[in-house]
Amino acid sequence: MKSTASAPGKIILFGEHFVVYGSGAILCAIDRRITVTAEETMEKKIHIISEIGSLKAEPGIPACDVDCILRPLYHLADTALRSHGIPGIKVTVKSEIPAGMGLGSSSACCVAGAAAVSGLFSDYSREEILHLAVNAERTIFQDTSGADCTVCTHGGIIRYGGDGHEKIDAGQNLGIIVASSGATHSTKSVVAKVKKFRNANPAEFSGMCDAESDIIRDVKELLEQGDIAQLGKKANQNQRYLEAIGVTNQTLQEMVRIGQGASAGAKITGAGGGGCVFALTDGGPAAADAFREGGYECFAAGIDSDGLIVFN
Ligand code: PMV
Repeated sequence: MKSTASAPGKIILFGEHFVVYGSGAILCAIDRRITVTAEETMEKKIHIISEIGSLKAEPGIPACDVDCILRPLYHLADTALRSHGIPGIKVTVKSEIPAGMGLGSSSACCVAGAAAVSGLFSDYSREEILHLAVNAERTIFQDTSGADCTVCTHGGIIRYGGDGHEKIDAGQNLGIIVASSGATHSTKSVVAKVKKFRNANPAEFSGMCDAESDIIRDVKELLEQGDIAQLGKKANQNQRYLEAIGVTNQTLQEMVRIGQGASAGAKITGAGGGGCVFALTDGGPAAADAFREGGYECFAAGIDSDGLIVFN
């Protein structure tokens, strides 16, 4: 018995870090995917094969003893083995999303992995898969807001908040150029750094959370109207808060300035400290040209409207 599922990567358009403290976020699923195949095996092993690492181990190992990158998949397989009493599972991962760049490789892997593994036994709803995926992601990053897995499950552009999530129907003219710093980051350590900033500057941080909530509210409407110029201004404002909480660095600053100079607005996407920035355009080539001239790889991100796809 085999089961295959695929989930898209994502970018965070607005609200990263502040979403951890309840301000909400706007995220977009992108047209790069991770596909996971799960297979029942007779050998009493959990076998994971991926381009970023492989593992063949006994079931029942404590999560902390499993290599960090493969831990969520190990957790999903191990939990399934325990509940369904089969000997072993082989999990194969194929990815179009670079790891550690803030483009949702980990969340897409958790969502596709949860669907593929549970698809061996039964049909599960998207909400059930999302729940399994967030729990799997918590094995590497306990404090996740859950926003990333939510957009990878449901696709499209979503507003994510404490009250759940809603889809946003964005205008057709939205162009997103994603540029890579080439440096990976650890979401967990950047989030820990922000926590320290918040503890040292509670009033300033709380003011920024309120301002970020206002951005999220306004941006939903601007996306629906397709008002790229105003969205760009909001991106630049959001970027100033990300700079204030210390998640940027010299390379990211240079990239953001390049993006801002050649588009409606630009900011870091994801945790920062490495990873990617994006620029908002109305489809023109200026931002992509400027990033390339600056020596940064970039691509035009298409919006994935499907989210999780289950193939069996
Ligand atoms: O892992 P990244 O780079 O997509 O960042 C996750 C977004 C944060 O807001 C920093 C954390 C979270 O769980 O929402």
